[in-house]
Amino acid sequence: MRAVAEANTNIALVKYWGKNDDTLNLPAVPSLSLTLDGLRTRTEVSFDAGESADTLILNEAAVAGEPLAKVSRHLDRVARELGLPSRPRARVRSHNNFPTAAGLASSASAFAALTVAATAALSPAPLHIDDSWRGRLSILARQGSGSAARSLFGGLSVLGTGTPGQVDSARGTPLLAETDWPDLRLVIGVATEAQKDTGSTDGMRHTAATSPYFAPFVAAAPSDLAAAIAAVRARNLEALGQVAERSALRMHASALAADPAIVYLRGATIEGLHVLRGLRKGGITAYFTCDAGPHPKALTTAADADRVAAAFAAIPGVLRTIVARPGPGARVIATGQEAAL
Ligand code: DP6
Repeated sequence: MRAVAEANTNIALVKYWGKNDDTLNLPAVPSLSLTLDGLRTRTEVSFDAGESADTLILNEAAVAGEPLAKVSRHLDRVARELGLPSRPRARVRSHNNFPTAAGLASSASAFAALTVAATAALSPAPLHIDDSWRGRLSILARQGSGSAARSLFGGLSVLGTGTPGQVDSARGTPLLAETDWPDLRLVIGVATEAQKDTGSTDGMRHTAATSPYFAPFVAAAPSDLAAAIAAVRARNLEALGQVAERSALRMHASALAADPAIVYLRGATIEGLHVLRGLRKGGITAYFTCDAGPHPKALTTAADADRVAAAFAAIPGVLRTIVARPGPGARVIATGQEAAL
């Protein structure tokens, strides 16, 4: 009862921010994201009747407390989905191939990989992830972390809004495979983190509870999603970039208006936005986005990615840059006794 799975992280171009059901982790808004090549989590789950407790090793270090409890609850969820009344305790080992200290560690790739590995390990027959399974796995992953629902899919995918009380009301759906728009690039300016961030779960709860700008953000999301989907279908990067930039800035505006304010943006982040706007005046196609951390990110083309990365690298506070292509959806790497991280 052992399996290894991999999942890549994803960056939202239409942002998920806020829940309409905390217990079932259902999003208050629809989102659209790009799964990134090269930034992935690999996770081994090993169920063993001889173990007395679940254990979690993340990047070679033992992890306890709430992160372990969250993993245990997720393993319970997977077992229930497979119709198992109980499950053996598990050893979970997980490794990110991108530096966790840089603050890029993503719950998206983590919960997608955990979901797939745990399902493969507990399944009586080899898990073949067809479309129907991918949907079920996405619903499971979403309950661990909303953005993880999208990492089940490669390329561009959408996560819908949930209906409170209905666990299967929000899942990821594929929009374009990673090979369908090969010209897309996502550039990340890895910025210093002088302070620990508020995690996205707490950040979005606090925003929803206290920000007068949260309701307008939610109200604008469906039309942003429709515009983004139309832009993706037309392979129109300018149109997609414009939606991405305003969706990210509106998400941050709602967080900034929370009481007390949640400020993920740092000097390097804002500078990143200005740099991209300057590059656009010179004919470069690049649009800003940013998540629950300080790193400026840019949606751009293969031809312009190096120029954008160089411009980010020159910003004080940006340590290094990453250029990522569209990447694949979550997958099983190995099952059975031989499966190892
Ligand atoms: C800013 O998926 O981390 O990255 O569901 O509470 O685990 P939970 O939140 P999470 O939130 C992601 C927020 C975001 C935008 C996005 O990925 O859509």
